[in-house]
Amino acid sequence: MIDQATIDRIIDAAEISEVVGEFVTLKRRGVNMIGNCPFHNEKTPSFTVSPSKGIFKCFGCGKGGNSVNFIMEHESLSYPEALKWLAKKYHIDIKEEEESPEQKQQKDDRESMMIVSAWAQKYFSRYLLEEDEGRTVGLSYIRERGIRDEIVKKFELGFCPEGKDAFTRQALKQGYKTEFLESTGLTIRRDDWVRDRFAGRVMFPIHNVAGRVIAFGGRTLKADKNTAKYLNSPESDIYHKSRVLYGIYQAKREIIRHDKCYLVEGYTDVLSMHQAGIENVVASSGTALTHDQIRLIKRFTPNITIIYDGDAAGIKASLRGIDLVLEEGVNVKVLLLPDGEDPDSFSRAMSSSQLTAYIEENETDFIRFKTKLLMAGAANDPIEKARLVNDIVRSIAIVPDAITRSIYIQDCSRLMDVQEEVLYEQVRKIIQKQTEELQKKNYRDRNYNQQQEPGPDFFFDEPAAAVTKSVAPPKPKYTCEIEEREIIRIMLKYFNDEVFEIEDENGDPLAISVGQYVLEELDNDGLVSDNELINRVLDLFAENLDNPDFKAQPFFIRNSDPQISQLATDLLADKYIESKRWKKGGAFVEEEHEILDLLVPKIVQEYKLSKVRALLRGLESQIQEAGKTDNWEALMEHQNQYINLKKVAKNLSEQLGNRTIL
Ligand code: CTP
Ligand code: MN
Repeated sequence: MIDQATIDRIIDAAEISEVVGEFVTLKRRGVNMIGNCPFHNEKTPSFTVSPSKGIFKCFGCGKGGNSVNFIMEHESLSYPEALKWLAKKYHIDIKEEEESPEQKQQKDDRESMMIVSAWAQKYFSRYLLEEDEGRTVGLSYIRERGIRDEIVKKFELGFCPEGKDAFTRQALKQGYKTEFLESTGLTIRRDDWVRDRFAGRVMFPIHNVAGRVIAFGGRTLKADKNTAKYLNSPESDIYHKSRVLYGIYQAKREIIRHDKCYLVEGYTDVLSMHQAGIENVVASSGTALTHDQIRLIKRFTPNITIIYDGDAAGIKASLRGIDLVLEEGVNVKVLLLPDGEDPDSFSRAMSSSQLTAYIEENETDFIRFKTKLLMAGAANDPIEKARLVNDIVRSIAIVPDAITRSIYIQDCSRLMDVQEEVLYEQVRKIIQKQTEELQKKNYRDRNYNQQQEPGPDFFFDEPAAAVTKSVAPPKPKYTCEIEEREIIRIMLKYFNDEVFEIEDENGDPLAISVGQYVLEELDNDGLVSDNELINRVLDLFAENLDNPDFKAQPFFIRNSDPQISQLATDLLADKYIESKRWKKGGAFVEEEHEILDLLVPKIVQEYKLSKVRALLRGLESQIQEAGKTDNWEALMEHQNQYINLKKVAKNLSEQLGNRTIL
């Protein structure tokens, strides 16, 4: 267990925009920063970071929290693991006991898999650089290919010994478990024997965005046709091929700096580009490009240039990639290398300045790329030309942003010598058809609890509506959830600093703190939540009522109970509730702290009313039940309670009515 003082030190050091900024490109927007949410797919940024509050909040998917919560969510870590992650980043010591074998075992599986992968990477690297076999077989192959030692180091290349199970034996000897060696795919196990998956291969570790090793690619040194050139780690709990890009960890800073990312096919392409001085490059590595991979790039830049091999397969993959990238609202360019070349061979043949110049001169937007490609030999064939125009129009229709679409249309019109109006009409038709299909589909799988994806914005529509609009209010999870959260929110913000005036029994003004008022009101009526977390938070407030040093916001945001800190940050980030709430003298009051004397009692009354209504609903069913079973005694009792509560409810809503007219 990490003590609160250390947690405070970590959170103090872990400046939210810096922590988030490691994974998301943030732009300043007033006092906040905003960017594309890493937790869901979005076209308009709704992911907000508040450096002053130390929290983030996505108004699209609802995720929010402090820097620790961010790391928990983003790196799929537990609370203590996330704290350790940050402590390491900011060089803060956490004293921990030496791990016992039991503790080692207790660590969750994912962590164990990452630990064994990290160890394997070190083992392979050491084997490559220090052991005879590694040096004579592996390293000499790498050097022969012209890969320099600094690149070997940067990408942590390694070598897995030839033979049956040298690696696995060593791992077991070190205390790593067969279970995790197997689940990471490093070891293959059949009934009574084990074998190294990568024996005799040059090892390319695959890192996640945070730099942890999650998988490997292994290249054979044999030219034999029956041996797969590359073997890759299997899918596992830590490695989802479709969400990973080779080289993203080594590239992310440069991608941000250049606001651009090159996308290549293979491991060696990434290495050679780095060697040629181009470091904003990642590879899809054997899998066909996926939406998740593009979203990963989109966190860092909206500009992608695809550089694939110049062969038929490369062209086909490029065409597919274009539509995929366009669909994500990312700008795409394409660079086709001469047939038979890949970025690896090509970059080797020239200096790095030549390579940069070549890329700049030859990368083309997708329309020109398609035109050039498909027009070859079809320039004078009207049918071929029509087919090409249609093909381009289909791609344009995928682009989510209307302005970008119109720019592409103008471009295409000029290039293909077709009237703009005709192209607009075609694109409109395609989008309309898509929208109809989407509506039909939404209708089919309409689900009360599920947020609806907004359809593609219509061609001549206004720009996409403000993100906050599209968020449906979530269904309450327990009785009075909305009101209770509001009670907590108002206390978080104004617990003891803000003193407001109410009237005492004689009608004289009485000064009282928000916390005192709320807690007394709840206490007087014996109000308890159905939700255990809310009760815990209320208890903590009550415990600190007389504590002059108590600061509610940092206390709850930094609370060692992640459920509590999560709740606090959620509530503090919710900006809609605040803005739309009150009208005073006909004008909206922006600053709720100016009207606490009205607001706080109203919030408490609303809560009481909602509680009473819940009780009434309960009584209604009890009365029905008693009526059915002819239990007259119970029936009378419930009915009396019911009548009394009805009065209370009427009273409360009248009071509320009176107040809201103010
Ligand atoms: N690939 C794979 N399995 C294979 C062949 C290829 O997973 N049997 C993946 C690898 O990630 C590889 C990429 O596809 O890097 C591109 O394949 P290719 O162009 O054939 O390999 P290169 O990266 O060019 O590798 P090399 O230069 O060593 O031939
Ligand atoms: Mn290649």
